[in-house]
Amino acid sequence: MPENFFWGNSVSSMQTEGAWDIDGKGNSVYDIREATPDSSDWKVAIDEYHRYEEDLDLMKEMNLNMYRIQISWSRCNPTGDGAFNEEGFAYYENLIDAMIARGITPMICLYHFDMPLNLSKKENGFVSRKVVSDFFRFAKEVIDRFAGKVKYWITFNEHNLYFQEEAFRISGYLKGEKTLSEMYQILHHTMLAHAKVDEYIHANYPELLLGGMLAYEEVYPATSKPKDVLAARKIQEFMNNNLYDAFAFGHYSNEVMHFIATEKIDSDFQKNDMAIISKMHADFLAFSYYRSDVVNADKIPNNVSPNEYLKFGGEMNRFLDANEWNWTIDPLGFRDVITKIYNRYHLPVFPIENGIGLREHWDGIHQIEDDTRIKYHEKHIKALKDAMFIDGAKVLGYLAWGLIDIPSSHGDMEKRYGAVYVNRTNHDLKDLQRVPKKSFYWFKSILEKNGDEL
Ligand code: BG6
Repeated sequence: MPENFFWGNSVSSMQTEGAWDIDGKGNSVYDIREATPDSSDWKVAIDEYHRYEEDLDLMKEMNLNMYRIQISWSRCNPTGDGAFNEEGFAYYENLIDAMIARGITPMICLYHFDMPLNLSKKENGFVSRKVVSDFFRFAKEVIDRFAGKVKYWITFNEHNLYFQEEAFRISGYLKGEKTLSEMYQILHHTMLAHAKVDEYIHANYPELLLGGMLAYEEVYPATSKPKDVLAARKIQEFMNNNLYDAFAFGHYSNEVMHFIATEKIDSDFQKNDMAIISKMHADFLAFSYYRSDVVNADKIPNNVSPNEYLKFGGEMNRFLDANEWNWTIDPLGFRDVITKIYNRYHLPVFPIENGIGLREHWDGIHQIEDDTRIKYHEKHIKALKDAMFIDGAKVLGYLAWGLIDIPSSHGDMEKRYGAVYVNRTNHDLKDLQRVPKKSFYWFKSILEKNGDEL
């Protein structure tokens, strides 16, 4: 493996930090979500705000050399459009310094679904054009402060999810009819915000690297029926190519633009927006990959926009195993995605989230034997190496998701991704002790040799 290959851990703010209401942090939309029978609230997470030194020591011991964090908008800019919070910035400054002191390279993500509550209430999140400027103001401040210490940047986590029903959960949208036009508007506004960051970074800090990031699932046609193949291709065009083409080539997909025009989607795509978008040039293309999907065209009703095909036509793949949450395990899909991206864009590819959620319980004494997780990562790293050494793709690194247990995206502490167990449940915070699992020692030993022995 290349000497400068990144092996890392990847997280979001609300899933790690806790400290939801201290040191001047404002509320985000997550802070007001209550616990349910199957999920925790978001107030403590794994309390990394107070334990980052210990967590970084564990990452270093595992031989990780990159940590992707998020700079929380509401921690640094409590209302989203008002004064900045120095205590919030001080936290991240210390965290980044502590990473660098351990030889861990930071990567910053600027938005991971946690809109400042004030902007949700006032503006309904990214459906409003004003929020694009608010976000850019925050992003610019973060970039100016950390450009000297942080080289790798991404703007929106899983940017293509702003193009599914999910858009209304993750963009700060609080109330409305959730129309297709609004969904396209949200996608366009987040892309415009990314374009402004792209322009700013490249004009002012040419040594920094900015990537666009997608949730990139491999999607297979359910059969070789042309209808299924067409549906899979359309998902690829609407969900992936449309955005990566914008990041890399500076334009949306012709097919998607044609759909918007002919379906009379009423979104505000202004001429000047396209001028900014046309200047974009990503330095790398990042993505999360956990599983693959299957689409059955017969299940898709007429008049459904292709970005929603999987909602209706998605089905299980009978050739693949899956975890308890029906997320399939598909390392070959991972290889195919990496190679496909590199072939189309000739830009460095960066998988920055990968992993498997498992239900685990620590008895307080014995090590957790998470062989399923070891196998999962082993197969995916081997697939990544095949993409590099058989298919010729250029890959910057491999970041696993949540290597120290964190609550899932739905706040469920029972769906764990970590190589380190965190001793808490959904409704009992216990002592939040960090306890290495078997996979911790597996990572440590394979990374000692830079993954060469896999
Ligand atoms: C990605 C998100 O969708 O997948 C994370 O970036 C999330 O926030 C991760 O936690 C895994 O999904 P889940 O739902 O199993 O936590």
